[in-house]
Amino acid sequence: MTNMSFTDKVILITGASSGIGATTAIYLSKQSAKLVLVGRKEGHLKKIALYCEKANGIKPLPITADLTEDAEVQKVVQETIDHFGRLDVLINNAGVIEMGGIKKSNMEMYDKVMGTNMRAVYQLTMLATPHLIESKGNIVNVSCVWSTKPSTMALAYNISKAALDQFTKCVALELAPDGVRVNAVNPGFVKTNLYNDTGLTEEQVDLFMKNVTSQTPLKKMIEAVEVSALIAYLASDNAKSITGGCFPIDNGRLLQ
Ligand SMILES: NC(=O)c1ccc[n+]([C@@H]2O[C@H](COP(=O)([O-])OP(=O)(O)OC[C@H]3O[C@@H](n4cnc5c(N)ncnc54)[C@H](OP(=O)(O)O)[C@@H]3O)[C@@H](O)[C@H]2O)c1
Repeated sequence: MTNMSFTDKVILITGASSGIGATTAIYLSKQSAKLVLVGRKEGHLKKIALYCEKANGIKPLPITADLTEDAEVQKVVQETIDHFGRLDVLINNAGVIEMGGIKKSNMEMYDKVMGTNMRAVYQLTMLATPHLIESKGNIVNVSCVWSTKPSTMALAYNISKAALDQFTKCVALELAPDGVRVNAVNPGFVKTNLYNDTGLTEEQVDLFMKNVTSQTPLKKMIEAVEVSALIAYLASDNAKSITGGCFPIDNGRLLQ
């Protein structure tokens, strides 16, 4: 029951070039996984691939791809199968945020956020499904605490994650007869590069982080590696009876 080894398992992680995805790649490499690392920044991907290889001696497959482009998503699945011949776990982690509610919004923001956080996940999951059915594998989606908790700060982002939760549950129900599990993790605030392109300064992000942290019942930060550990648990055989779940890791924020 405590086997967390991923020996001979092929795990595809999107957004592996930074933050939660990069930390998860390194975490899973320490448990012997064969990794496919996807992101747009080739240099960052190669750096993470090196860390992973050092941990387990297995060369990950880095794939530079913009997941908002249909052809690039197709390339990701094709190259994974060409290289490793199978797929056991899909971790849909890549995501972007745009700050602003309905009064400070535009359709470019909406399209970028929904295109990355939901449309790309839909297409990649669709193309990966036959391979996951073959391996009796599983999917872990990286959602957010704001998928269910209303907030005024990032409307497009919040609704993209609400959609992702429902996607998780519907696909879990559909693929259960095929022996494929589908779950989501819903983190609260984790300090990563997510807020870099939002127009917020480093100081504003730090202040935001301090405020959010002080508002949580446990009054502390969440480290990316804690999210990685939850993802790894859900992806492992220890979670063989768990499907369709959306699991908060939020310092108790949803209690309020
Ligand atoms: N940090 C938080 O507080 C927090 C809280 C809850 C949920 N989350 C979720 O956690 C996930 C990871 O975010 P993070 O915090 O680790 O942020 P991050 O450090 O900014 O990482 C985001 C990742 O997504 C990739 N990505 C973005 N757009 C992409 C595209 N079009 N094609 C391919 N890859 C793309 C980025 O890679 P490239 O730049 O190389 O393309 C990067 O690796 C996201 O889904 C986010 O919504 C984060």
